[in-house]
Amino acid sequence: MKIFVDTADLKEIRRAAKAGLIDGITTNPSLLSKVLGDRSLADCLKEIADAVDGPVSLEVLATDTDGMVAQGRELASIAENVVVKVPLTEDGLVACRQLRGEGIGVNVTLCFSPSQALLAAKAGARFVSPFIGRIDDISHEGMGIISQIREIYDNYGFETEILAASIRHPLHVVEAALLGADIVTVPPEVLWKLVNHPLTDRGLERFIEDARKADIEIPTRESAEA
Ligand code: E4P
Repeated sequence: MKIFVDTADLKEIRRAAKAGLIDGITTNPSLLSKVLGDRSLADCLKEIADAVDGPVSLEVLATDTDGMVAQGRELASIAENVVVKVPLTEDGLVACRQLRGEGIGVNVTLCFSPSQALLAAKAGARFVSPFIGRIDDISHEGMGIISQIREIYDNYGFETEILAASIRHPLHVVEAALLGADIVTVPPEVLWKLVNHPLTDRGLERFIEDARKADIEIPTRESAEA
């Protein structure tokens, strides 16, 4: 399963890339609004696309088909790894089909049901993004749609990849993996939570302590750099 990071924060993108933990990026207008400051949007998007070796989803803001297609072409021209995000609306599905016809990869976002996901696949989406956490937020079981979409796609051999989005905690990642999502996109704080376990920390402390007691030399960062 591929792991994307759901952020527009370059520091976090670079940290995850350095750790080898990132197969792609998803952004959205809300995430961009948090990091833009006084930089131009074009510069910001280019920097993000260049920071990772993998697909980078950038979202259109137009809501009509022609506007989405025009903006999608512009976004796709930023870098080869850009995937254009369009909303799962009637106009978005038409835009998806058109962009796909021009060889531009599309991530159909704001998907909340298996029926919507079926249409995204038929429109030729490269990725479909079911928003798990937002479904949980309204007291429905978000993860259920991942297994339904998986079954539908497998029944018909659709190649659209299921990109589980709106991920709130590590258990969402594990469940999405068990249900066969192709990708999860995780906020940086969830990514780092995937790494950590208190028993790992405690175990490591004990190993170091025991080595110290036995006078075994313990390399430090400084000694490794020397
Ligand atoms: C996906 O591409 C979206 O950017 C994202 O996962 C939305 O998550 P949220 O519901 O936490 O805003």
